[in-house]
Order: sequence, then C-alpha cells, then structure tokens
Amino acid sequence: MNTAIIVSGGDAPGINAAIDCFTRLATPGGDRVLGAQAGFTGLLAGQLAEIDRSLVSLLAGRGGSILQSSRAPALQEPDARDRLLNVMSFHEIDNLLLFGGDGTIQHIAPLLASWGVSCIILPTTIDNDVAATEYTLGHDSACNFALQAVAGIRATAHALPGRIFMLQTLGAPSGHLALAIAYASGAHLALLPEYPLEIDWLAQRLTQVVADDGCALIVISEAYPGINSLLSEIPRRTGIRVRYTDLGHAQRGADVSHRDGCVARDMSRLAWRAFKDGIHNGALIMRDGALRLHQGSLPSEKKPPPDRRLYEFVNQL
Ligand code: F6P
Repeated sequence: MNTAIIVSGGDAPGINAAIDCFTRLATPGGDRVLGAQAGFTGLLAGQLAEIDRSLVSLLAGRGGSILQSSRAPALQEPDARDRLLNVMSFHEIDNLLLFGGDGTIQHIAPLLASWGVSCIILPTTIDNDVAATEYTLGHDSACNFALQAVAGIRATAHALPGRIFMLQTLGAPSGHLALAIAYASGAHLALLPEYPLEIDWLAQRLTQVVADDGCALIVISEAYPGINSLLSEIPRRTGIRVRYTDLGHAQRGADVSHRDGCVARDMSRLAWRAFKDGIHNGALIMRDGALRLHQGSLPSEKKPPPDRRLYEFVNQL
C-alpha cells in the first residue's frame, strides 16, 4: 500500500508527529509513504519524495511541517483531476493522507471524493473552527504558547502595575482560539469577533479592573473589529496606558503540546487502520472527547460561535 501525504492550508503543530507515526506504521512492512511539497500544487507537479524518517522523527515535537503547504486553489484548475490521477498512477499511490482545516474540508475533500480518490483527512488548524469535530490538531499547542506569553505578561505586569495588557491571538474570523486562551489564563476580558462590545462599557470595566487588580489582561482575537482604534481609544477614555503583544505566526509554529502529540499519533493510527481495512474516504473527528473515524465526506456546515456562557463568564457580563 502506498500513501501520499499532503498538507493543505495553514500548518499547525502536530503535523510532523502524525507523519512520524504514520511512517513508522507503514514502512517496516514494506508500504511506501511519500510526501508532497507545496500541497496540491506540488502533488499535481509530481513533487513527491519518500518521507525522510530520521528528519521527521527529529522534528516530531516541533511545530510547522516537514512538508511545505500551499493555499493555492490547485484543484480548481480545469485539468486538475486528470493530472492528479496521472501522478497517483505514475507513483502507484493508493491513498492520500491529508492535513487541512475548514477550507480543505469544505472544498477539497468533496472534490476528491467525487473523483474517486481515496483520502482520509486529519482536521488540522490551531483555530479549532471545524464544525464536524470538537477538536482540531494544533489547537492545544497554540493555546499553550499563548499561556506562556500570558505568564510573562503577568510577571512584568505585577512588577510594574497600573497598565492594561492586550494580547492578540490568531484564529482567522473565529474567536474559538482566543476564548480558550482567555478562559485558561484567567484573563479579565476576551474580545471575540462574534461578540463585539461597546467601547464605553469596555473603558469602564478596564478602569475598574485596574483599580481592583493592579493591571488588566485582555485576550483579543485577530478579527475583532477595529483593533487599532481600540488601542488609541482605551487610553484616551481611561487615562491608562495600553501595552500590546501580537502572538502572530510564532503561535502557529509553536512546539507540540502533550495533547497534540497524542492526538496526532491517535489520528495517524486510526487513518492507517482505516486504509488497511479498505476504507477510502473519511476524516478523524472528535466527539464527546473520543477520536473516531467518520466515513465519507463531512457535512458542509459552519461551526457555531464560541460558547456564549463561557464568554460571559470571562467577561463577567
Ligand atoms: O487558519 C490558521 C491561521 O493560522 C489563522 O489563525 C490565521 O488567520 C491564518 O491561518 C493566517 O494565514 P497566513 O499564514 O496565510 O497569513
């Protein structure tokens, strides 16, 4: 059995661990595992090579991916189907193991299924914004990276009090990542794009928090509307200095947490078993805390907004 591994869209911590596990399962029995560079763009161009086992095991605990990804819509090109099937037949590839987030699941997976390509998806994004699963690979590592940053901010905030700290997370248009971080870190405020707040209310609450606690910590999601104007309006209305930290892509490239190391390997083991059992389409999803194989395409739906009650608890609304 020959498998090609593809990373599509934003990388996330845990991809290398999953590739490491899958390769270790496959290669001792003589099965081949190839990796595509540059996602589907590379696959269509035949940019495939055997996975370097020693490299992937060396990097299993690191973020990023030994296989480069791409956001280019390569499969939308008119001859994409024929090129893909030709490459797969030339390299004798039986199955694709695909890492990707919501875009990949909504747009690429159904296309592959309609072309009869055998493919199992490992939902992978730090954003945790895929409707069909409670958990996406990489989310926990990105949260842990932010918690480290909060620990540093809290230390300096304690030493030099009287300020407001605003920590910006990634998360694309969704606030799931920011809320998870705000809750776990005990932040005073979570600012999520799904629930914009009145500036007057914000200014009042921040003034009170600084008076009570000596400093205020805000976790803000990157798509919250008007971040720049908040940075000038809050000090103007409160008279309190605001210091701002943007985690940016350092967060996405975080080291792999214990949870993601386990999830990555659990996903790979289930995908391996599924291919061996002759299952040709599916995704690894988490329901009620348990990882399982969903056979066939995932329903095309949007994840509901972040938990309103948790959000209200953090913001004391
Ligand atoms: O989807 C994962 C993610 O890291 C989002 O959180 C973020 O908005 C986006 O990717 C950034 O994408 P790019 O690396 O293309 O700027």
